[in-house]
Amino acid sequence: MTETKFTPRVFSGIKPSGGLTLGNYLGAIKRFVGMQGAGFETIYCVVDLHAITVWQDPAELKTATREVAAGYLASGIDPEKSILFNQAQVHEHAELGWIFNCVARVGWMNRMTQFKDKAGSNAEKVSLGLYAYPSLMAADILLYHATHVPVGEDQKQHVELTRDIAAKFNHDFKVDFFPLTSPVIEGPAMRVMNLRDGTKKMSKSGESDMERINMTDDADAIAKKFKKARTDPEPLPETLDGLKDRPEARNLVDIYSALNDMTPEAVIAEYAGAGWGRFKPALADLAVDKLAPISTEMERLMNDPAEIDRVLGRGAVRAREIAAPILKQTYDIVGLLRS
Ligand code: TRP
Repeated sequence: MTETKFTPRVFSGIKPSGGLTLGNYLGAIKRFVGMQGAGFETIYCVVDLHAITVWQDPAELKTATREVAAGYLASGIDPEKSILFNQAQVHEHAELGWIFNCVARVGWMNRMTQFKDKAGSNAEKVSLGLYAYPSLMAADILLYHATHVPVGEDQKQHVELTRDIAAKFNHDFKVDFFPLTSPVIEGPAMRVMNLRDGTKKMSKSGESDMERINMTDDADAIAKKFKKARTDPEPLPETLDGLKDRPEARNLVDIYSALNDMTPEAVIAEYAGAGWGRFKPALADLAVDKLAPISTEMERLMNDPAEIDRVLGRGAVRAREIAAPILKQTYDIVGLLRS
């Protein structure tokens, strides 16, 4: 099957669980902004149905959903250029998710490394939703016949599963209905690491707030965290190769390069031989420059939740205009009667 019969369309989503970090910004949102108006229709979602695969406090879930929406908007997702909504307002996601539960095979789900990592030795006690999560993710994507999905490396396997589900559906029902979606994985700092331990991913749940940059951090907090970030005693090397086995140094160089839209090689060329006393303040200034306006705007938006809800509501109406006909055709293909 060729992808040409499908409109170039981007779909991606972020879970509202905990707050947003620099990892979400550089690994996802910044790229989503860049894909707007670049020859794609762009659809961005706050995937709240995914968040509840693990326990979420109901009142906090609504706040977290609005915070992700505010993060998208403050970073430059324009609701006139993109469709921005939260998943729970488009019930077609759950419906197609069920159909895909009946297409995906248990053997496929058993191969999902993220589930194995998350469930660990506790696999008997986690929710059935956590196990079925990748099939809902496939529904998110295929409900819009999305052709491209920008995601981090950790989600690549789920996009491959999405392709397997599309292919099996098309094959079983002898149709050419769902596209084989491509993951879009690129750029430095795709994986932003912890500021205190460069071998661990920057996460919203780590024990110390100093190990991460939150998208809601103000200028002072951003500067302080970069200045206190853990490093080794060596100055920056002459070539990128010299950052091998220096995870903290590599992370800071990658963050600088992603924030400043340059390659890590160019950062090294500029700072070869520089000590941390020079590089860290430069990084702190750059980060404050790029991130503080976003956190200020997020704060303004979070003080007007009704406006966020209006944006999400309008986005959901537009999302349903695409999703409803595709779900209806899916029901027809499967033979589900609706009178
Ligand atoms: N699983 C993704 C994550 O944890 C979030 C997600 C849900 C998603 N549905 C999606 C991403 C559809 C891209 C497309 O990051």
